[in-house]
Amino acid sequence: MSLLSATNTNQQKVCTRPQGLDPLRLPAHVAVIMDGNGRWAKARGLPRVMGHRAGVEALKTTLRLCSDWGISALTAYAFSTENWSRPGDEVNFLMTLFESVLQRELDSLEREQVQIKFLGDLKALPKQLQKLIADATERTNKNVGIRFNVCTNYGGRHELVLAAKKLAQRSCQGEIDPALIDEKMFEKELFTAGEIDPDLLIRTSGERRISNFLLWQLAYAEIHVTDVLWPDFDSVALTNALVDYQSRTRRFGGLDPMATN
Ligand code: IPE
Ligand code: IPE
Ligand code: MG
Repeated sequence: MSLLSATNTNQQKVCTRPQGLDPLRLPAHVAVIMDGNGRWAKARGLPRVMGHRAGVEALKTTLRLCSDWGISALTAYAFSTENWSRPGDEVNFLMTLFESVLQRELDSLEREQVQIKFLGDLKALPKQLQKLIADATERTNKNVGIRFNVCTNYGGRHELVLAAKKLAQRSCQGEIDPALIDEKMFEKELFTAGEIDPDLLIRTSGERRISNFLLWQLAYAEIHVTDVLWPDFDSVALTNALVDYQSRTRRFGGLDPMATN
């Protein structure tokens, strides 16, 4: 099954942008905290890891939909710096799952013009996974389709500390003047350098927290929380998130441009 092939039997329905959405006001960048895999499995009497397996299908569907509906970047939280504290069996399962999915899907990612990147401290990942990641990044870096960022061993605080450290080192080496450090310079040291900030953050499974995700980049994202568990996230759930996004007034600290007083 190709990564971008819809798993839904009704391909037409999956790929067409819903009528209720304004194509001119779609978020350019959607970020998603894919939560609830374990609860999804538990509700079915299955081991937690089966939820992670089902979660991959939901991610494939979401990528397909975002790409088809004209969203230019999707950033997904796949594994946090805190997730190492889970039982070893679950962590090992996840690492093996990342490897097998990437191996299986790389050809179709390449073919479908997806530009994949992995954001996080990749050095701590298994060597075989690191090799696959390097290969996938290299093979898709000239693609012109959706930018697909997979946050793996990602932690927002860790990312900020690394950025501060790099700027401190460059200052010590006389490469930059610390007095001139500004937001633009700081952003260039983040894993997301070159990427635009997310317009919309979706969190599934009803949890109302950020869990150390994109602490810098989410400064002005609109947040949509849904009770849907990640493996059940589908075109209806994505449409609901986008409709919710389109109902918001983004002020960025200013005043509503449409307000009369
Ligand atoms: C999200 O699902 C996937 C990862 C964090 C890797 P969870 O595994 O956190 O599922 P719940 O929250 O326990 O239901
Ligand atoms: C956030 O989910 C991390 C990922 C989705 C990869 P968690 O399940 O780890 O978050 P908490 O523990 O509920 O905050
Ligand atoms: Mg969770």
